[in-house]
Parts: sequence; structure tokens; C-alpha cells
Amino acid sequence: MPTVADIRAANETITMLTAYDAPTAELVERAGIDVILVGDSMGNAVLGHDSTLPVTIEEVASRTAAVSRVTDEALVVADMPFLSFGVDEAESIENAGRMVKEAGADAVKLESGPHTVGLTERLVELGIPVMAHLGLTPQRVNQIGGYGRQGTTREAAAEIVDLARAHEEAGAFSLVLEHVPANLAAGITEALDVPTIGIGAGPDCDGQVLVITDVIGLGDWSPPFSKQFGDVRGEIESAVGKYKEAVESGEFPAEEHSETVEEIDDVY
Ligand code: KIV
Repeated sequence: MPTVADIRAANETITMLTAYDAPTAELVERAGIDVILVGDSMGNAVLGHDSTLPVTIEEVASRTAAVSRVTDEALVVADMPFLSFGVDEAESIENAGRMVKEAGADAVKLESGPHTVGLTERLVELGIPVMAHLGLTPQRVNQIGGYGRQGTTREAAAEIVDLARAHEEAGAFSLVLEHVPANLAAGITEALDVPTIGIGAGPDCDGQVLVITDVIGLGDWSPPFSKQFGDVRGEIESAVGKYKEAVESGEFPAEEHSETVEEIDDVY
């Protein structure tokens, strides 16, 4: 299994994908993906919400546990949901600790800002590796007013650079950069020792991450910076349609799907 130290020192491009359940995690790991993020993107991707805000600590813990149970090669990172961190330090530590102690995560990810520098330092001190996350931080959707690109002015870009440095100094082992200009991501990647992992941040990060439902083509929408590499939605529609037809026509279940027991023939 790649450790946090391996990711920190990676020479090769880091591959990261989200997964929210055991069968998907198993396949993602089998494909050789380095890091599995149990992202709070589960809110939109699989829980039917229209943002990540309603996702609870229990939901992330339960799905992290499912992913951890079936993986040993990939590094499993649990995403800390909205308001599960940053309000009260003791509670933040307890919540992050649950992900490691109960759910089997190897590290946690925090949507970062000025308020997470001290918390990152404290978690790292306590032995909980932290992946930072800057640029578009979807938990701030109500403040930002949407999911637009971040760091597009000199001032905003400089703030992201400062925060990236501050989180590296605080001990974060890697940094997700979401939906920022490619040249900003390239500059931050050059400036930091820890690896950057981009999503909508151009080709020059040390690694890339996408949401699994976008990659496999399960969702009905995906962001413009993502890419669909498969058509699982089409496969499910086709399989479910075939099942319905087979049941309605009496073709399923066939003889090979049924068993009879002679001894009970005269019971009624
Ligand atoms: O929740 C998530 O899946 C994420 C990634 C998009 C980085 O934060």
C-alpha cells in the first residue's frame, strides 16, 4: 500500500479517484489507482442531494469503512463533511479520529482555508495525516454563489498561494487544487514540496483526481473540466430494461434459475 510518505515523495503522477462503496472501491484499486477519496461529493454523486452540504459524518464514516474493508493497496482518504471540522477543535479532532479509528481511513481531507491551518497542524501532531484542499471548495457554495473557477484575480490567486504554503508548513502531506487556472496550479506545484492533486486545474499538478460517477458515466451531468471514460448509465439502462422484458415475458426465471423439492409436492 502506498503510505502517506510514498504519496508525499511520489516521482510518478499520482492517480486518485473517489469511491463510495465496496464493489467500486475494489475495482478502482484493481485498476491500480494510488489514492481512493471517500469524498463528500457522495452528496451529489450517489445520495441524491444537490450539494455536499447535507452529507453527515456518519455517512462518510460508513462509506469509508466499506471502502477500507475491501482495499489494501490504495491509500484511503476520508473527506471531512461540512461543519464536521473547524467549529470546535476538540470536536474536529474527534471527528477526524473516528475516520481513522473506526472507519479505517489512512488520512483525512479538509476543505481548507485560513481556519484550517492550526487544525491541520494539530491533527498531524496527533498522527492523523491531512490532505488539504484549496481553490473551489464546494462546502462554501452559499458564500461563493456557485461552483465557478477560483483564483482568477491577482488577489485571489495570491491568497491561494499563501494558503497552500501555510498548509504545507502546517504538515499537510498533499494538496488538492480544484477548478483554478492551470497556470496558478502549475506555479503552486512548482513552489511546494508536497504534491498537488488537480481537478479542473490543468495538466501540471503532481496528480489528478476525478469523481468516479463522472469517469464511468453514471451521473446525468458532469462538470466541463471532467471527462467521461465509460457509459455505465447506458449499461444499467440496458440491463434493467432487459430484466423487465424478461420478467414480463416469462423468460426469467427459467428452469436453471429454479429448484423444486419433490418431498413437499403433497403438502397442499
Ligand atoms: O468530495 C470530493 O469528491 C472532492 C474531490 C472532488 C476532490 O473533494
